[in-house]
Amino acid sequence: MERMTALLQSTLVTELNEEIVAFSAWRGHILGQLYVAMPHRGTQAASRLLTASEIEMAKEGVTESELHCLVGNERARRFYERMGWHNKEKITEPVAGEHGQTDVPFWCMTKLLAI
Ligand SMILES: CC(C)(COP(=O)(O)OP(=O)(O)OC[C@H]1O[C@@H](n2cnc3c(N)ncnc32)[C@H](O)[C@@H]1OP(=O)(O)O)[C@@H](O)C(=O)NCCC(=O)NCCS
Repeated sequence: MERMTALLQSTLVTELNEEIVAFSAWRGHILGQLYVAMPHRGTQAASRLLTASEIEMAKEGVTESELHCLVGNERARRFYERMGWHNKEKITEPVAGEHGQTDVPFWCMTKLLAI
């Protein structure tokens, strides 16, 4: 639980008929999570939640936000680009898997947040 709290400092959820259909989480300027449940993809749920998250991050004093999108996740990348995010560079990050840690490539995407 402590580890979760450290990882997910701030979160937002989208509720629809008392069900959580999407969530986002960030820590400092890093947006670490954005997830929309399958039946709610292709609706405005993702863009509304991302906009709300950006507003909260800006309120916390973040001027430039960053996220790491798995290389090959074209759907997510197109979505972020439509939302005004830019691919800054390709990076690799160690990710824990079945066979220990592996270096995985990510697109490091950023967006300047309006205050
Ligand atoms: C990334 C995510 C938040 C985007 O939300 P979304 O609702 O899918 O976003 P959009 O509605 O803008 O759709 C994105 C693209 O998928 C397409 N799409 C919409 N519904 C689709 C469906 N049922 N099947 C396949 N593609 C679909 C859209 O047409 C769009 O493609 P386009 O750019 O060619 O027009 C969501 O897909 C998600 O939660 N994915 C799983 C978790 C994830 O990858 N998170 C990001 C980690 S960095």
